[in-house]
Amino acid sequence: MITIDINQIGKERLSKLESYKASVAAALATLESRNGAGNDFTGWLDLPCEITPDFIAEIDAAAKTLRENCSVVVVAGIGGSYLGARAVIEAFANSFQWLIGDKKNPTIVFAGHNISEDYLFELTEFLKDKNFGVINISKSGTTTETALAFRLLKAQCEKQRGIDMARKVIVAITDAKKGAARTTADKEGYKSFIIPDNVGGRYSVLTPVGLLPIAVAGYDIKKLVEGACDMRLRTLGSVPFEQNPAAVYAAARNLLYKGGKKIEILVNFCPKLHFFAEWWKQLYGESEGKDGKAIYPASVDFSTDLHSMGQWIQQGERTIFETVISVDNVQHSLIVPSDAENVDGLNFLAGKHVDQVNKMAELGTRLAHIDGGVPNIRITLPQLNEYWLGQLIYMFEKACGISGYLLGVNPFDQPGVEAYKKNMFALLDKPGYEKESALIKDKIKALE
Ligand code: PA5
Repeated sequence: MITIDINQIGKERLSKLESYKASVAAALATLESRNGAGNDFTGWLDLPCEITPDFIAEIDAAAKTLRENCSVVVVAGIGGSYLGARAVIEAFANSFQWLIGDKKNPTIVFAGHNISEDYLFELTEFLKDKNFGVINISKSGTTTETALAFRLLKAQCEKQRGIDMARKVIVAITDAKKGAARTTADKEGYKSFIIPDNVGGRYSVLTPVGLLPIAVAGYDIKKLVEGACDMRLRTLGSVPFEQNPAAVYAAARNLLYKGGKKIEILVNFCPKLHFFAEWWKQLYGESEGKDGKAIYPASVDFSTDLHSMGQWIQQGERTIFETVISVDNVQHSLIVPSDAENVDGLNFLAGKHVDQVNKMAELGTRLAHIDGGVPNIRITLPQLNEYWLGQLIYMFEKACGISGYLLGVNPFDQPGVEAYKKNMFALLDKPGYEKESALIKDKIKALE
């Protein structure tokens, strides 16, 4: 079972929990009855339990084509069209081997999530002698970062592998009808998958957006979906509050926010979860950060970051709280060896599993931070595998919907993301942005 412990959020806040439960239940009911703001984008709620074996088979078949014909697959996408796949793939991949590939699975690399000339140049260089394929992911089909990378990748793939093979190893995941990605896919005859209209980017990891890259990387998408579906059942409105981890998490973080805790740090003690935290940051940051409100979602990898951010967390401004993701069982076994000379003084650890040391670092940190005035939420999962990660993904998504409604925002839009795009297009003289171009030149003058 995934469990959540909120006993360390502070006595005063815990005492408010009872009276807060009705608001949480109301937010959950609004979400499930699709009566709240942004209700057009709640398709992800039922999705994991609606995915059919035929649909999984279709994704697995597309993955098989890529796996059989490519040593490298480039996943092009940004934001919600990128982070979910990367979070899951990095959680399971061998920390070293996946970068260089192994015999069983293609190497997965990511593009379309930045506009760095150096990154894209190095990527094209890296791909030069590779049989590579591309998964082009964009719901709108017009996102500049992704479209720009795809323009380069498509040309390179066609040149290196020939038009026919390129058409076989380029897959599009986009809207059913609109956008340049759809037009190109239809024109070239690419295999394509549709991103459902009622699922927004950051809630889309359990659609082909996440499922295809994860399947190409060699992981069991059926188990991932099964985990998510089981968590859906655990988080229904009919489940008592205490047994619903999404409701408990949403309640705890909002009580902390009301009490002046403006920053939430998602903590892991396993570097494989680094990108899971990136996915979580987008989920909460983009869903809640609007109308001048919301917790700032941050993340750290411990114990690495205890040696950089640990000081701030222990003794800096007391506006933070921590949510720790704790994994009970590791995948491998490694014992600390004994050393006859014991020069490093580590013989007191000899015979112990490395994970025992890590677990004590985790407990010691928890106690120290609680002593230092950092409220603590602890989420425990039995193991890092597809089933439990599927549960955790759905748990956080559901909690995000509840949390957004508790905060009084629409958790399913992102109007603020447009501001930089408008300026960038104006600065680059994109046709249609003539008025903005004139305005922005005045703004730049004012800066000088
Ligand atoms: O969550 C979101 O909606 C965004 O992060 C989008 O996923 C991101 O901007 C990419 O958009 P698109 O898939 O249209 O290229």
